[in-house]
Amino acid sequence: MLKSYKTNSAEETIELGKKIGNLLNPSNVLLLTGDLSAGKTTLTKGIGISLGVTKIINSPTFTIVKEYRGKCPLYHLDLYRLDGLNNDFDLEEYIEGDGVCVIEWPYQVEEILPKEYLEINLKRLSEFERSIEIKANSSRYEEVLKKL
Ligand SMILES: Nc1ncnc2c1ncn2[C@@H]1O[C@H](COP(=O)(O)OP(=O)(O)OP(=O)(O)O)[C@@H](O)[C@H]1O
Ligand SMILES: [Mg+2]
Repeated sequence: MLKSYKTNSAEETIELGKKIGNLLNPSNVLLLTGDLSAGKTTLTKGIGISLGVTKIINSPTFTIVKEYRGKCPLYHLDLYRLDGLNNDFDLEEYIEGDGVCVIEWPYQVEEILPKEYLEINLKRLSEFERSIEIKANSSRYEEVLKKL
């Protein structure tokens, strides 16, 4: 199942993120794909708001993982620079953990991704316009997408 959206500002993308976040359960995994500056972190900000995260979510590019406290934990992973770092933490712990796990640049770790996830692809159409396509690859995530 696939649903397509278009936003015209960062604020609209945050609003869509809030709606998505409201439908999530702990242990859900979201893969965010799209070029640099497509809006992946912006969408994650909205997800965080709906999960009750009060800290400001910003790009974790130099830290790979940031963990936020909300109604359930939010693990925000950005694997863009994974190759250049010496990681001594276990990414699978986050992916399989009991929090919502949002992964930017997920195909850096294709081999450890779960079988079921919601995949969100963002594309920059112009300075402020973004297309946002959301795909569910299992019945569990189709239920989420149906409600959106
Ligand atoms: N409709 C929109 N949706 C989201 N962001 C927008 C939109 N219009 C403009 N922007 C701007 O585009 C930028 C998106 O940056 P963001 O950090 O969310 O991208 P990203 O996909 O996480 O990039 P990276 O791969 O570098 O982490 C922000 O500066 C934001 O204000
Ligand atoms: Mg980002």
